[in-house]
Amino acid sequence: MGAAHERLVQPVIRARSRLRRAGLAALPLVTLAACAKNAPQDTLEPKGPVARQIDNLINPVFAVAGVVFVLVMGLALYVVIKFRHRDDAPEPVQIHGNTKLELTWTLIPAFTLLVIAVPTIATIFDLAEEPDDALHVTVIGHQFWWEYRYDDFGVVTANELVIPARQPVQITLDGAEDDVIHSFWIPPLGGKQDIVPGREAKMRIEADEPGTYLGQCTEYCGLSHANMRARAVAITRDEFATWVRDQQRPGLPGPTGSGEAAQGQTLFTSKGCGGCHTIQGVSQGQVGPNLTHLYSRETFAGSMFDLTTANLRRWLQDPPAVKPGSKMPNLGLSDDEIAQLIAYMETLR
Ligand code: CUA
Repeated sequence: MGAAHERLVQPVIRARSRLRRAGLAALPLVTLAACAKNAPQDTLEPKGPVARQIDNLINPVFAVAGVVFVLVMGLALYVVIKFRHRDDAPEPVQIHGNTKLELTWTLIPAFTLLVIAVPTIATIFDLAEEPDDALHVTVIGHQFWWEYRYDDFGVVTANELVIPARQPVQITLDGAEDDVIHSFWIPPLGGKQDIVPGREAKMRIEADEPGTYLGQCTEYCGLSHANMRARAVAITRDEFATWVRDQQRPGLPGPTGSGEAAQGQTLFTSKGCGGCHTIQGVSQGQVGPNLTHLYSRETFAGSMFDLTTANLRRWLQDPPAVKPGSKMPNLGLSDDEIAQLIAYMETLR
């Protein structure tokens, strides 16, 4: 058996040690991957007071967890090595039922959790409080885009959450009854909160400075979960007041005459687009995003695409082909029809 056994086992051992070497070589690479320079959704880089408050809780808790990790792993390694099997070694002392030991390893974790609970509970209650000067927005999750309702102003928009910088934004998360669970998260500005159909939840975000802050749906919600992006666009209070006024304008009077845009508006109605989309003064659909002021936004389709003619063309040719699971069907539009629809869309400002 000796030589034959060797012949069989040697390659396996060699393969294993090669695998181990490859694993060790990959380790620094994997670690480096955690140091991305351009990481706009980094939850550890707070850009507002709410996210900072959460970060101030994460850091000490992480330190405590780190100490526990090193201690437990170190002890486990020590025991594994020290008491490993040896043919001549006697059976180690059995400690089952040692009251002192059991009290120790119950009380230390209990005390640790108690210490962590103090700042955690304080932060939870603090974040649940609603500041007096907060702006109210209702966020509704749809497969696969976001609807934002500013009920105090009568404004409805989609995908880009426009907010004033340096003002708390109190968000009510509302799940559409016929939809699935989503989760709203703009990491630099605040925490993460699930949106459950038929239930209301609250959260708060705030930005220190004007800027665009990227986020993402973080609850698996179907084929295009990864394409359900969110962004918060923070602007100054003055700019925000102007933005609200612009959004409150009724839709511009539709294009007249027989140009491409006018033909597009006719198509919008005849193809049934209005059954899903609201354009003020034209249609009242509730399934897809409100398009009344479409061109006040930079992106569309769950912030998946920049709002450009080329992207709109690609989208209108076959929405589910570029965004799997999209509820907007392929309408089989001809190139001319697509050009007319885009010409009409471009009037929606
Ligand atoms: Cu919505 Cu994932």
